[in-house]
Amino acid sequence: MLLRRSDLAQPLDASALFHRPGRLVLEIGFGDGRFLAGLARRHPDWNLLGVEVSLASVSRAWRRMRREGLHTVRLFKGNARFLVRDVLPPASLHRVYVNFPDPWPRKRHLENRLLQAEFFDLVSTRLEPGGTLCLTTDHEEYFDFAREQAAGSGRFEEAVLEPPRETLETKYALKWRAEARHIQHAAWTVRDPAPGQEPRIPFEPMQHALLAGDLSGVGTFTKQVRRFEGGAAVVTEAFRTLDGSGLLFTVVVEEPDLRQELLVRAFEKEAGVQVGLQAFGDPIATRGVREGLRAVTAWLEAQGLTLVKTWI
Ligand SMILES: C[S@@+](CC[C@H](N)C(=O)[O-])C[C@H]1O[C@@H](n2cnc3c(N)ncnc32)[C@H](O)[C@@H]1O
Repeated sequence: MLLRRSDLAQPLDASALFHRPGRLVLEIGFGDGRFLAGLARRHPDWNLLGVEVSLASVSRAWRRMRREGLHTVRLFKGNARFLVRDVLPPASLHRVYVNFPDPWPRKRHLENRLLQAEFFDLVSTRLEPGGTLCLTTDHEEYFDFAREQAAGSGRFEEAVLEPPRETLETKYALKWRAEARHIQHAAWTVRDPAPGQEPRIPFEPMQHALLAGDLSGVGTFTKQVRRFEGGAAVVTEAFRTLDGSGLLFTVVVEEPDLRQELLVRAFEKEAGVQVGLQAFGDPIATRGVREGLRAVTAWLEAQGLTLVKTWI
């Protein structure tokens, strides 16, 4: 139910993930998961995917699904922009729900809002023909903003409707209804998908490297920054293993809407020093991860070791 990052492929094969074909429906920012659970009960034939950035929320929703015995839901902890753009294939989604998105009311924070024209363009390509993006919110200014952004994208037919009953039962809906706030709902049906909208983060297989030399003479470590098109990999620290046979490097990789923390290991073997990813932290094999491994390899080369070969 809880997707590991290594479960993701580019593009994702949703029917393999759910072990059955079916309509794929996405909820962005599912919070405690009660709306997603309701969908699972009402539409047992739908394959339900939820994405949420907050670990505490993912954990709460996961417990709910387990408690309620719901098996048609998959949860991913991460950024919706990454999931939609870099993982989901074109025309794969039947519906997308966004309930009570964070409003980011301050002017200087507007760019953090999810429902921008750019995101509408992206979603227009990931929805199937006739597929719909649904928004429910108490935030009037955000509601108007989202409508303007959708109109700016020009890819959708808009309907402003009464909020469906089930969207009035989410945790935030109950909170705002208790304050008698006015709740609004819009549904945008895709009319003309935007051109382009390719993934921005290439998934690439993990790489290993072999270097001639040993680790006895490596000097003081300083932070290594490796920039590449679309991101940066920073080797932040190096540690010696207690048995003295290897080094461990902590690496932070930043790519659009995706931050990953890796542990890279360099250890002595008969043939030389082998560099590879330590099985830790469940990283997605992206270009940035490969660049992180390269940054470690380059540092070892600067310490006098010689690159012999790389392999996948
Ligand atoms: C105000 S809460 C609403 C939660 C839930 N939908 C409800 O109605 O109770 C907004 C949620 O969206 C999540 N969120 C914000 N930006 C996100 C993003 N880019 N991708 C995924 N989740 C996001 C937040 O962590 C938060 O749980």
